[in-house]
Amino acid sequence: MKVSNNNKVSTASYKGVRDFYPDDQFIQNHIFRVMKDTVESFGYTEYSASILEPEALYQSKSSEEILKEQTYSFKDRGGRDIVLRPEMTPTTARMIAAKCRELSFPARWYSIPNIFRYERPQRGRLREHWQLNVDLIGLRGQEADIEIIRVAHAIMLNFGLSEDMFEIRINDRAVLESHYKKRLDLDDDTYKAFLSLLDKKDKLDSEKYQTSMTELIGLSKFDEMEKMNETRSYEDSLKEIIETLSSKGVRNAFCDKHLVRGFEYYTGVIFEIYDKNPANKRSLFGGGRYDDLISLFEPESIPAVGFGMGDVGIRDVLETYELVPEYRSPSDLYICILESRMRDGADNFADKLRSKGLKVAVDYTYKKISHQVRKADRDKIPFVVCFGEEEFLSNTYKIKNLASGEEHQLKADEIALFIKNSK
Ligand code: HAM
Repeated sequence: MKVSNNNKVSTASYKGVRDFYPDDQFIQNHIFRVMKDTVESFGYTEYSASILEPEALYQSKSSEEILKEQTYSFKDRGGRDIVLRPEMTPTTARMIAAKCRELSFPARWYSIPNIFRYERPQRGRLREHWQLNVDLIGLRGQEADIEIIRVAHAIMLNFGLSEDMFEIRINDRAVLESHYKKRLDLDDDTYKAFLSLLDKKDKLDSEKYQTSMTELIGLSKFDEMEKMNETRSYEDSLKEIIETLSSKGVRNAFCDKHLVRGFEYYTGVIFEIYDKNPANKRSLFGGGRYDDLISLFEPESIPAVGFGMGDVGIRDVLETYELVPEYRSPSDLYICILESRMRDGADNFADKLRSKGLKVAVDYTYKKISHQVRKADRDKIPFVVCFGEEEFLSNTYKIKNLASGEEHQLKADEIALFIKNSK
């Protein structure tokens, strides 16, 4: 291969996005498989949409921070303002509203879109991620909030985690409002700023938080708020949902009265899931109830609750706990050809095995057999067979299991069953 430093295009990918080589794609597929199997076990059905959305879709009720600082936006050739979707919920709401007279409710929907946010790339946060979105649309009762949290909990268990490894933090926008907005008598704008400050409480040092809060609401209201925080009345408001969850096997959920979530559309229960291991600090899931979002598009009011869960954070968690499955090739068998004149015979042999459901690759390098076998081994293909004149004439083949080294002498029509049974 010729090596030159001149005028070569860089092989680096764009900052904050990933290339998925086959071993990465294998892990990604495992993550998607666990997500899909779990949500489908609760009766959810898959939908999808385009990456491109008109910017106007996010202008009300999404997150100001995301819209102003984190969207990839551009004008198309017709002068329209377009964004690469920075979240899925507005798309889901738009799709539900567009066909609300034809769809049947409650709708249990899921999707795994790729999402783009211009964030500072860091552990757990990238500029493109895939996000499982699970939404239950059309139920106002607490059953829906509970089911959504149970689905999230089940996903974590199905990835092989146990309850003591992660925690579910729950709050309620309606409780936040009645507790702080009403009791502290905050107007709409102050309350909005109040929520955004509360949301940052864990990120700011306590002095900075205190100064900003007193500046915003005044010293006397700040003192009143501190007093309110000392009573248990807040936690009592979330007691019922936490107890019901516990009675259904979700024993790691608790009230976090500082949890706010960045999106304006939430109206009721909100939650986030965190790994307890300090190596993974960012939220793994985030969601909540958004009863008024669909009514932005439609006179009819349709309640909804759901969550998003990213692929980046869960992969870190799986690596932390050594729960990443070992790479396996999708191929079952590698056919090594002994001499080039046997090529057509090998192709026919491969086609017969494929028609019986095997996944078969053929080596056309005509290199030494040891080379061909090594190639199969490197690619983690479980079985190899050599195809030469002798094998062809006797219709008998030696199948080698590369992991165990075992060899079996089989007739051509026994091979497919043998390999299927040894999976
Ligand atoms: P979110 O909290 O912005 O919620 O994102 C949900 C999850 O997506 C996060 O907990 C995290 O796992 C993942 N995530 C978010 N941003 C990034 C990033 N830059 N890199 C890697 N992973 C990331 C929402 O987006 C809501 N729309 C979720 C929702 C669905 N609410 C109701 N239904």
